Amino acid sequence: KTIKNLGDIQGKKVIIRVDFNVPMDKKTGVITNDRRIRAAIPTLKYLLEAGASVIAMSHIGRPSGDPAKDAILKTDGVAKRLSELLGVPVKKAGDTVVGPAVTAAAAALQPGHVLMLENLRFDPREQKNDPEFAQQIAQLGDIYVNDAFGTCHNDKDASMVAVPKAMAPKPRVVGFLVAKELEVIDGLMAHPKRPMLAVMGGAKVSDKIAFINVLLTKVDHLLIGGKMAYTFLKARGVDVGSTRVADEELTAAGPLLQYVGNKISLPIDYVTAKSDDLNTTQVVEGNIPVGFEGVDIGPKTLANYSAEIAKSATVIWNGPVGWFEQPAFSKGTRGVGEAMANSHAVTIIGGGETAEAIEQFGLDSKITHVSTGGGAFLAYVEGKKFASLAQIDEV
Ligand code: 3PG
Repeated sequence: KTIKNLGDIQGKKVIIRVDFNVPMDKKTGVITNDRRIRAAIPTLKYLLEAGASVIAMSHIGRPSGDPAKDAILKTDGVAKRLSELLGVPVKKAGDTVVGPAVTAAAAALQPGHVLMLENLRFDPREQKNDPEFAQQIAQLGDIYVNDAFGTCHNDKDASMVAVPKAMAPKPRVVGFLVAKELEVIDGLMAHPKRPMLAVMGGAKVSDKIAFINVLLTKVDHLLIGGKMAYTFLKARGVDVGSTRVADEELTAAGPLLQYVGNKISLPIDYVTAKSDDLNTTQVVEGNIPVGFEGVDIGPKTLANYSAEIAKSATVIWNGPVGWFEQPAFSKGTRGVGEAMANSHAVTIIGGGETAEAIEQFGLDSKITHVSTGGGAFLAYVEGKKFASLAQIDEV
C-alpha cells in the first residue's frame, strides 16, 4: 500500500522513515548534496497538506560511539535543510532518539507540523532491530510510512523492520519515493526494451559480483569502466603498471572472464597518471607503464561506449568509469552521462557516486530515473527480498 491508500489522515501523526544519509563536508558538516532530502519532499508535502503531522526519522553515516566525533552526524543540519525545502518549521526532538522529551514533543505536535528525531544510529538498538526500542518509536504515531528506499535493504534496522512490525495493525505504507523506485526497477527487470545495455564502474568487482551475474542474465551487452576495469585487464594478462589490484579482486573477476569479448567489453584505451605526480598523464593502449595508474577510460573507449549507448533502447548505469572527482579525470564519466542524456533509451542510474556524478554534470534531469539507492539499488536489482517491505500492508 502507498500513502494514496490511507484515506482521511487529518489530525493523524505519521511516523516516516526517510533516508537523509546525505554526503557532508567532514569538517563543517555542511550538506554537499541534498538530493535524498529533496526526493522525500513530495511524500512529506502530501502528508502535511492532508492535515497530518509528521515525525521524521533517519540515520546519518556510521557513528563511532564517541559523542565528540559523532556530533557532526546529528540531524540538526538535515532538519534545517528540510525546513527550507518544505517551507515549514521542523523541530528537533532532543538529543536522544527516544525518551520522555521526544514522547512529549510528539504528543504536542500539531497538524501540518514536523518533528525530526535524532540520528537513529546514535542508539545502538537501532541496528539490532531491537523490539523495545522499536516500541518506543511506534507509540509516537498512528501511521507508519517507509520512504527510505536507500535503506530498504537493511534487514536489521529497527526503524525499517521492528517499528512497522510493532505498529501493526495500524496502517503501514510506502511513500511516493519508494513506490516509484520499486515500479521503475521492477519494470526495468521484467520487461526491458531491447537492446539492453549496462555500464558498470566503481572500484570492486567483489562487492558487485551478484549484481553483475544478474545483469549478465538480463542485458545484451555490459561495458566495464572504472577501477574494476583494471582488475579484468590484469586478469587477462595486461600489465596495469602501478594500478593497485588486490588478489581477491582477481579471484572475483575470474569466472566472468569467459564473457569478455562477447557480452562484456573492456576499455581499449585509458587515461593514466603518474602515481607520484597526478599532473603527468598519458593515454595508453595495451600495457600501462610502471609508475602510472589507470584513472579514466580513454577517448577511443568513450567513443565506442557512447556509440553503444546510442544504439540501445535501455541503459542501466552503476559506478563511475573514472576518478570523476578530479576534473582532469572526469571526461569518461561525463561522456557516458552525456551519451545517456542524449539517447532516446530508457536510462536508469543507480548508486550514490554515479548519481552524484550525473548531478554534478547537470545531466540528471535528462535521465529517466536516478535512483536514491546505493546498496539498496544493487540488492533490489539482484532480486533480494527486503524484510522492510515485507512489513508494509498489502493492497
Ligand atoms: C546508503 O547510503 O546506502 C544508505 O543510507 C544505507 O547506509 P549504510 O550503508 O550505512 O547502511
